[in-house]
Amino acid sequence: MGIPENINTAKIRGEKTLLNGITGEDAQTVADWKNEDEVFRFALSTDKPVTVESQRADIARTLRADEPYFLIRALETRKPIGYVRFDILDNERSKLLLRYALGEPEYRGKGFAFDALHAVLKHFFGNGALRVEAECYDFNEPGLKLLKKLGFSIEGRKRKAGYYYSTCMHFDVLVLGLLGEEFN
Ligand SMILES: CC(C)(COP(=O)(O)OP(=O)(O)OC[C@H]1O[C@@H](n2cnc3c(N)ncnc32)[C@H](O)[C@@H]1OP(=O)(O)O)[C@@H](O)C(=O)NCCC(=O)NCCS
Repeated sequence: MGIPENINTAKIRGEKTLLNGITGEDAQTVADWKNEDEVFRFALSTDKPVTVESQRADIARTLRADEPYFLIRALETRKPIGYVRFDILDNERSKLLLRYALGEPEYRGKGFAFDALHAVLKHFFGNGALRVEAECYDFNEPGLKLLKKLGFSIEGRKRKAGYYYSTCMHFDVLVLGLLGEEFN
């Protein structure tokens, strides 16, 4: 059996971040983050701005499905700075797909994402997760370095799987994986 039900009620604490379950009231914040330059370029494959309505619907669907979706807050100030979420890939809730972003640029490069992702992975691997995978655009150096620092290995390359509408460019997407027994 994998991660527990009602997972979004969990409070997860790192050394410099605090994670709490997302609610519909966070839709505007998440839409703003997704429209920020780097998140839009490195984590989304679309040519249209992200709307609040789409995020409200996405949050509602995720909560109905009991999939993990957390806001990342700076521990000291409680300011929301990003999100981390997981698609559940199997009926046992033990294989997960990780997605994440820091939406506040001034918090990047200071260890906040590492701290938050390490804390949530520790919580999930300690509570039944067997495997976490992630996808990363091959030109996303910060995203790739962060995943490798967390212990992820590259398991494959999906050639020309991504597409940029604005430049009409196809790009490769890397697939990475991390098993519970490898995590520390
Ligand atoms: C990827 C992202 C979450 C990293 O967050 P962060 O808080 O800046 O990362 P951290 O400060 O915890 O850094 C962790 C490691 O990532 C690497 N890293 C972070 N920013 C980097 C940058 N701009 N360039 C190169 N490497 C970088 C470093 O190796 C760092 O470890 P080190 O400090 O020990 O060298 C953030 O840049 C972001 O939100 N980007 C846009 C969205 C996105 O790319 N999402 C991921 C999709 S796979």
